[in-house]
Amino acid sequence: MSFIDDIKAQAKSDKKRIVLPEYMDSRTYEAAVKIAQEGIADIVLIGTPEEIAANKGDYDLTGITVIDPTTDPNRQKYIDKFVELRAKKGVTPEQAEEQMMKDYMYYACLMCKCGDADGAVSGACHSTGNTIRPALQLLKTKPGIHSVSGFFVMDVPDCEFGENGRFVFADCAVNVDFDSEKLAEIAILSADSFKAFIGAEPKVAMLSYSTKGSAKHDDVTKVAEAVKLVKEQRPDIKVDGELQFDAAIVGSVAKLKAPDSDVAGSANTIIFPSLEAGNIGYKLVQRLAKAGAYGPVLQGLSMPVNDLSRGCFADDIVGVVAMTAVQAQKA
Ligand code: ACO
Repeated sequence: MSFIDDIKAQAKSDKKRIVLPEYMDSRTYEAAVKIAQEGIADIVLIGTPEEIAANKGDYDLTGITVIDPTTDPNRQKYIDKFVELRAKKGVTPEQAEEQMMKDYMYYACLMCKCGDADGAVSGACHSTGNTIRPALQLLKTKPGIHSVSGFFVMDVPDCEFGENGRFVFADCAVNVDFDSEKLAEIAILSADSFKAFIGAEPKVAMLSYSTKGSAKHDDVTKVAEAVKLVKEQRPDIKVDGELQFDAAIVGSVAKLKAPDSDVAGSANTIIFPSLEAGNIGYKLVQRLAKAGAYGPVLQGLSMPVNDLSRGCFADDIVGVVAMTAVQAQKA
């Protein structure tokens, strides 16, 4: 079974309610219909009758809930919640209502916050920043977590490395600046995400251009310090670094460069030292190895909200909804 078929089966076992706020994109309707037909999740679309009619084409929305935000009896509840959550920022009820009605991702996040939905997926026609900002502002992080980060599940065909070719790569999507503390938190969240999505024991490699002190630089020290922090905070996680990518995944290289490591040579959870490295790294593997790249999936949020690529196909939306539903099951 492919990775995504595994995830769809998991999602179907306990159906969750997922909001798709991008009424203006035909891929939303195609995906919603597929999700309903396959029984992956209960889908909620947001849009006025006019907005939906102008965009849905011939798709039959039987079995899909459509919320009209102009007549929704919960609307005042969401305005009140918005004002409460953004009180420190001085947001007024008028501003809250305007923002919610202008950008339905805010509406979707408020539905989640008020317990009327289990998660949301957007980004087919919005940038990553515009997709995740409402979630950062309204849903916030899980208790004890400082930063939301973004991982990909990489499913590499015909690959003997990782967990039968499956890996988690992070952070590939969110944090522009990393210090050792943030890097350690990304590694811990990613180990838990690997366990949740792949089901096997995570082995975390914290990458650099150096392996175990082969080069000296502040960048290398930052990664080595992050490894120490992970070991202190979560002694149950198998982690090592700093490691070069070949030493992290290839047994013969690991024997030469990090012979005493219980992670080097068999790592399956790959933590990059910067957003540039993570974002470029996942795209290299996706394109050159023709790997499945599922994400970016956000980790560390109090409720699951996920982003899509603007180049996505409807099937990609189906996959990300299934992953969001699985995150909601484990929340
Ligand atoms: N974790 C938790 N909270 C955060 C995070 C984070 N990583 N980043 C920002 N926040 C919070 C802030 O504290 C702030 O909260 P507040 O309003 O309650 O004070 C709120 O989110 C908004 O923060 P800003 O810094 O004002 O938001 P901004 O929009 O400038 O930045 C963002 C946040 C969107 C995540 C930004 O860091 C970003 O653009 N990152 C890069 C995204 C990107 O382009 N990725 C590559 C493409 S993705 C791909 O290729 C798959």
